[in-house]
Amino acid sequence: MRQMIAGFTLAAIAILSVTSRSAETPSAIRYLEERRIWLLEGDKSQYAVGVNAAGELIHLWWGPKLAAGDFGSGVIVPVANSTGWGENPQYLEFPAWGEWRYPEPALKVRFADGVRDLRLRHDSHRIESNVLKLVLKDPHYPFAVELRYRVLPRFDLIERSAVLRNGCERPIDVEQALSAVWHLPHLQPWTLSYLAGKWGAETQLRRADLGQGKFQIESRRGATSHQLNPWFALSGTGKAGEEHGEVWYGALAWSGSWKIAAEVNAAGRLQVAGGIHDFDFSWRLEPGAEFETPVFVGGFSPNGFGPASRQMHAYQLAEILPRPAAGEARPVIYNSWYATEFNIDVAQQIALAKRAKDLGVELFVVDDGWFGKRDSDRAGLGDWSPSKTKFPQGLKPLIDAVHGLNMKFGVWVEPEMVNPDSDLYRAHPNWVFHFPNRPRTEQRRQLMLNFARPDAAEHIFRVLDTRLTENEIDFIKWDMNRHIMEPGWMEAPQAQQREIWVRHARAVYDILDRLRAKHPRVLWESCSGGGGRADLGILRRTDQVWTSDNTDPLDRLVIQEGYTYAYAPKTQVAWVTDNPDGVNGRDTPLAFRFHCAMMGTLGVGGNLLRWSNEESAEAKWYVAEYKQIRPLVQDGLLYRLHPHAVPLPSSPAVAGSGLQAYEYVSPDLSQAVVFVFLHSSQLGNDLPAIRLRGLMPGARYRIEVRQPGTGDPAITAQEMSGATLMERGLALRLRGDYQSALIRVRMAE
Ligand code: DGJ
Repeated sequence: MRQMIAGFTLAAIAILSVTSRSAETPSAIRYLEERRIWLLEGDKSQYAVGVNAAGELIHLWWGPKLAAGDFGSGVIVPVANSTGWGENPQYLEFPAWGEWRYPEPALKVRFADGVRDLRLRHDSHRIESNVLKLVLKDPHYPFAVELRYRVLPRFDLIERSAVLRNGCERPIDVEQALSAVWHLPHLQPWTLSYLAGKWGAETQLRRADLGQGKFQIESRRGATSHQLNPWFALSGTGKAGEEHGEVWYGALAWSGSWKIAAEVNAAGRLQVAGGIHDFDFSWRLEPGAEFETPVFVGGFSPNGFGPASRQMHAYQLAEILPRPAAGEARPVIYNSWYATEFNIDVAQQIALAKRAKDLGVELFVVDDGWFGKRDSDRAGLGDWSPSKTKFPQGLKPLIDAVHGLNMKFGVWVEPEMVNPDSDLYRAHPNWVFHFPNRPRTEQRRQLMLNFARPDAAEHIFRVLDTRLTENEIDFIKWDMNRHIMEPGWMEAPQAQQREIWVRHARAVYDILDRLRAKHPRVLWESCSGGGGRADLGILRRTDQVWTSDNTDPLDRLVIQEGYTYAYAPKTQVAWVTDNPDGVNGRDTPLAFRFHCAMMGTLGVGGNLLRWSNEESAEAKWYVAEYKQIRPLVQDGLLYRLHPHAVPLPSSPAVAGSGLQAYEYVSPDLSQAVVFVFLHSSQLGNDLPAIRLRGLMPGARYRIEVRQPGTGDPAITAQEMSGATLMERGLALRLRGDYQSALIRVRMAE
């Protein structure tokens, strides 16, 4: 049996390999020269573009593989519509605004002579390994666009972006520069899946059936946002579920203002355009200058949302998350925020650190309140030196104590912000976004530094660099607790003032990139009042995300589940906090809270100085158990066995049956862990059987329901074949409210 498994194992491990950025085979891109067609091929998907007689770049196909010969001439011959009322039948791969184009364009520019009509014709192409570069040019103005496609065949993903080049002698104003437009096959009607919510309720899966018109998800806030997340998935209405049906999906690698517009035209054809938001945006492209858009990655799954998410997770582990930590286990965190808020001092933090160590915690984090005059949210942001009253000898005594306990040490910062009551603001009141003759609107009593200003951004880089150089800091949580308003930057030339949306986000990236390069062993957590900055752009620079300020496990199950549609469980940090939770005032059993938090990167955030010996002993058991299953949860394959979200078709998602179950399978398929949650048992009903997935049908597995105490299984351990576990499933008896179970499944010797 073991030998037989080894064959499967290699394939599975290859999917999850995180040791190196992939060197893909060159065969992923084929150019059919005589037909002027480019075929981009994934393991199970195909994407095709071609050039028509007019020299336009036309989208031909995105979906399951077709025979190359079937593309024929492939390119649709334009059918002139004499009345001009109809839809242009040419589905331009990268539509510029000009001539006969009314749907959402990818690009809109204004030339120096005032012309606002852009035409793009194919000029040349290059294939470099698995990257296709297609150059388009305007026939009159020396303006070029290079479309980039990086094909990742084993994930069935394509990363798309565009580079604009101004070859004119005068500047060009770019008014819209999206990353890509995706055209979907003609399969109406469509259902859009997306992630929506608010503070404390992020990344909930929602569904919307699409009809003629435009459905746009977006952020105009200068940041990713809690309200909507830059990820989408599309399926034929009623045609796909977790493990069946075709799903097309994508995500933007961008942490500034963004939009993704799904538009069905009068002919029933669907396109999805996305990238940097054009709202209040304009970019002055000087002669000889370039503008590069962020990446918009898109993928196709022939077998439902489950494989789509697993491909995204594997892609993030292999391609997105920063090295070298991508493949390393994320440590168990203790964070003192909910325990102590601003009321901290060295002795109390050391006392907490000792308790955390007793539980098995590996990383101790001091949250807000350690710097400047930060005794409440009224003051201190911007003054990133240890508080003279709370840390009279600086951070060193605490860092030494934490390191002495053999734990890593981390701190919280919010680098983009100042309180008006701070030395930094008093010295540089013009560094914040503001307009003259208008109030500077505060949120949480803070204003936002304008990182489009190189002086402000450089100052913050230097301060953070100094803190990291002087102290042995292993981890930084970068928070952001408000969004941009009154986006004035009056010192800049008029033509550049609307560039702030892009310049600020790029400056955040730049600071992170430079700090990571100088301090490569530091781990970073992205936080924005919870999960307000979770996207592929920030995940290229931060190792994990604080998913929500809401730690009620019942809510958290919904938030976490939605998050996994787009992002890897490893990147999702969850803390076990005290009863009642701060959002709903709910009391839940420690087991329920731990099981929920164990489904990503585990953290503890309760006031450990108040935990009873029994609670601490139970918690210690969960932390030890977590360390055993951590490789499965952080680097394994996730199956949403009983998701919260109702299967398609539905609009919007509604509460499920009260049962939620998730399975994580090890890459070699020899182990799995299943988490089962029941909100309330009712009418004495038994739970439906929990059918597992992703196991080897012929292998025998040992099943244990694990609970704290002796470590003995609560029910007699059983042995079953993978096929039985997947077909008949597990019968589990849970009674009462907030019941949960952790089931270990291991291949029998
Ligand atoms: C918001 C974060 O989401 C919390 O975890 C905490 O760090 C506070 N900010 C601190 O002000």
